Amino acid sequence: MTNIFAVILAAGQGTRMKSKLYKVLHPVCGKPMVEHVVDNIQSLNVSRIVTIVGHGAEKVKEQLGDKSEYVLQEQQLGTAHAVIQAESILNGLEGTTLVVCGDTPLIQPETMKALYEHHNSQNAKATILTAVAGNPTGYGRVIRDADGQVSQIVEQKDATPEQQLVTEINTGTYCFDNKALFEALKLVSNENAQGEYYLPDVIEILQKQGEIVSAYTCNDFDETLGVNDRVALAQAEEIMRNRINEKHMRNGVTIINPLTTHISADAQIGRDTVIKPGTTIEGQTVIGEDCIIGPNSNIVNSRISDRTTVQNSVVTDSYIGEDTAVGPFAHLRPETQLGNHVKIGNFVEVKKSTLGNDTKVSHLSYIGDAEVGSNVNIGCGSITVNYDGKNKFKTIIEDDVFVGCNSNLVAPVKLGAGSFIAAGSTITKEVPADAMGIARSRQENKLDYAKKLK
Ligand code: UD1
Ligand code: MG
Repeated sequence: MTNIFAVILAAGQGTRMKSKLYKVLHPVCGKPMVEHVVDNIQSLNVSRIVTIVGHGAEKVKEQLGDKSEYVLQEQQLGTAHAVIQAESILNGLEGTTLVVCGDTPLIQPETMKALYEHHNSQNAKATILTAVAGNPTGYGRVIRDADGQVSQIVEQKDATPEQQLVTEINTGTYCFDNKALFEALKLVSNENAQGEYYLPDVIEILQKQGEIVSAYTCNDFDETLGVNDRVALAQAEEIMRNRINEKHMRNGVTIINPLTTHISADAQIGRDTVIKPGTTIEGQTVIGEDCIIGPNSNIVNSRISDRTTVQNSVVTDSYIGEDTAVGPFAHLRPETQLGNHVKIGNFVEVKKSTLGNDTKVSHLSYIGDAEVGSNVNIGCGSITVNYDGKNKFKTIIEDDVFVGCNSNLVAPVKLGAGSFIAAGSTITKEVPADAMGIARSRQENKLDYAKKLK
C-alpha cells in the first residue's frame, strides 16, 4: 500500500470570526475544530500528519500536542502557500497527500477514505472533494467542462456572475500525488481578487498539464460545512450535536430531548441510561448503564458508574460509584470520589474528597479536603471548616460515624470510627473511636421569662 500523508491547514487568523480566539481553536461540541479534523485523520491509516500553523501557532500546538507534526507559515499568503510550507517534511516522498482545512470539522473519516479510494481508482494526480450547497455563497465553485471533467475552481471573489450560479463547491479537502503536488505548487500565482496563492489553482495547473484530475462528490453538504464565521459555527454545532446524539440513541441511550442535550464528541454512555433535558456532558466523560442524568445537569470529565442518578447538578473531574444518587442541586467539584450506594442530597458541595460506600450527606453541607469512610451519616448543615484564610486542612471521618446536624468540623481534625457528634457542635479536637463528641454551650431555661419580653 502507498504511503498516505495528511496536511491540515490551520494558520489563518479567521478574521470573519471577529474573535480573540484563533479560528481553528473555536470549539464545536466542546472540541476545537482543528482537533476534530486531526482526530478524524488519525483514525485513518496515515503515516504522517503535518499541521500548518501561523496565527496562534503555540496555542494550536499546545492543543494538538503530539497528534501531529508542525510547520510554521509565518505570513498567511494563501492556502497554496500554506501547503508549500510542508515541503520541508514531505518533499520528494512517494505517496498520496490528503489536504484538509482546519475549519471543516464535520468531514467524516469514511468520506476521506472514500475520496482516497476514488483518487486511487482514477489513477488521478489530484482529486477534489466537492459537494452541492443550497447556498454556495463564499465557497470556491467547481467549474466543469463540456464532458463533465473538473477544469478549475473559482473563488467567490473571482467568480463571474454566471460562475456564481454554480452550486457545486470545493470543500477544501483534496487528495494529491505528493510529488505532483509540490511541483505544481511552484506554478501557483497570486494574481487574483485577494492577491493570495490559492491551493485550488493546483487543479487547473495539473489539468492543463494533461494530468488526470478528478472529483469525488460528498452527498451530504452538511459534512463539508466550512466555518468562517459565528453563524457557520452555530450550524456546525447543531449538525455535530445531532450526529453525536443520534450515535448514542442508536447505541441504546434514551435522550428525552435531543435539542437541549449537548454531549461532547468523546463522551461514552452505557445502554439504558436516560439523559433528561437541559443536560450537558463534556470532555472525556464516561457514564455507565442504567443511569439517569438530568434534567439540567452539567457533567465534565467525570466517570459515573452504573445505576447512578444525577439530578439538576454540576459534576466536574469526579468519580461516582454505582447506585449512587446526586442532587437535586448538588455540586461535585474536582477530585471528588464517591463510592457505591452514596447519597449526596440538595445543596451539598463536595470538593477534593473521598466518600466511602453507603455514606450519606443529604442536605446543605460542604465537604472539602476530607477523607470520609463508609456508612457515615453527615447531618443537615454540617460542614468541614477546611480553610483558615491561608491554608487548607484535612478532615478525616472514619467508618460508621454519625455527625449530627449543623456541626462544624474544624480541620485538621479526625473523627474515629463509630463516633457520634452531637448536633450543633464545633469540633476542634480529635474524637476517639466510639466516643461522643459534644461541643456546644449548655442550654438554660428561664421560666416565665418569655412573658416579660412580650
Ligand atoms: C477555502 C477554499 C475554497 C473552499 C473553502 C471550503 C482556497 C483559496 N479557498 O476558502 O475554495 O470552498 O475553503 O471551506 O483555498 N489557511 C492557512 N494559511 C493561509 C490561508 C488559510 O493555513 O495562508 C488555512 C485557514 O486557517 C483555514 C483554511 O486554510 O483553516 C482555509 O482558509 P479559509 O480562509 O477559511 O478559506 P475559505 O475562504 O474558507
Ligand atoms: Mg474556510
